[in-house]
Amino acid sequence: MKRPRLLDLVKPGILSLTAYQAEEPRPGLIKLDANESPFPIPEELRRELRGALDQVDVHRYPDAKADRLRSVLAAQFQVAPGSLVLGNGSDELIQLVLLATSEPQATVLAPVPTFSMYELIAKTQGLCFEGVPLGPRFEPDLPALIDTIERTRPKVIFLATPNNPTGTVFSEAEICKILAVAPGLLVVDEAYGSYAGRTMLPHLVDQERLVILHSLSKIGMAGLRIGYLVAHPALTAELEKVRLPFNLNSFSQTAAVVLLNHQEWIDAKVREVIQERERMMDRLTALPGVETFPSAANFILFRTICPGGELFETIRQQGVLVRNVGSVPGLRNCLRVTVGTKAENDQFVEALVHALR
Ligand SMILES: Cc1ncc(COP(=O)(O)O)c(C=O)c1O
Repeated sequence: MKRPRLLDLVKPGILSLTAYQAEEPRPGLIKLDANESPFPIPEELRRELRGALDQVDVHRYPDAKADRLRSVLAAQFQVAPGSLVLGNGSDELIQLVLLATSEPQATVLAPVPTFSMYELIAKTQGLCFEGVPLGPRFEPDLPALIDTIERTRPKVIFLATPNNPTGTVFSEAEICKILAVAPGLLVVDEAYGSYAGRTMLPHLVDQERLVILHSLSKIGMAGLRIGYLVAHPALTAELEKVRLPFNLNSFSQTAAVVLLNHQEWIDAKVREVIQERERMMDRLTALPGVETFPSAANFILFRTICPGGELFETIRQQGVLVRNVGSVPGLRNCLRVTVGTKAENDQFVEALVHALR
């Protein structure tokens, strides 16, 4: 019997994709490439964490519904626990929303450039991705968005605000206009919402097509891999059918409960990053040959007059890792730098100035 060759067993739609690329961490390199928080957990909190993790029953499955963590989050946002779906990072929730809603060939729409996983996950599921270009300074182009929504009738629209990698935001009024014409779900991805100081959560009450996505990754807990979405309970009940059992491990659930109970620490670090973002933005904007874009997130996108790839390498040789986004359509010669600690940011600016020479 003739059998297909190994790679003939893989769907053509998968063969043509490129896997998500994450940089290998290298000791000594200042890591400003992944929009993480630069602040390690302070010692007294680590002690509390160690105590809690010590109690974890590793021989048992995790709490399948993550009830303790769920109730901490529900109380924090004053929503019913049943309005939440928890994921292994918000990446998993993007996948889950599309799995639950979109038949093959359905359209998924997002303004572009944006977070690459919307398109990648859509394509892994045989869906069509429709990117609608943002304006020249990456501001929302509402007429183009509304036209394309009416033409392509997307099952799901993803709107990251602040947007990654541009840092730009959609206003509440703009989001409401999109909601008014969306034939399917509108997922407002607020992964960086803490740095913008705004949220669409209050709109959930009267907007049943609205899904709000949050992540703990950008506020100091990237290693835990926890994201959550808030939506109408009728929808979350359906999403729960698609969620794999025990998707959040016991250590992550326990650690998140401990850390979320120290909201004052999280808030203080967010404020520190916002302050540093403003300081760094001023310094970058003042550099000849650098064009910055406004950011409400914990990173800054900038374009230079030099070839971005060379600049990226020269900065890396000086010990600072940023993200080279120059190959993304519309982002030629652009780099994205995460806001780090004051010392890290100073070292980055120094490396950039040197590289620009
Ligand atoms: C806009 C946006 N949404 C979601 C994510 C995924 O975050 P996580 O899976 O770590 O929760 C990212 C990560 O960079 C992002 O930039």
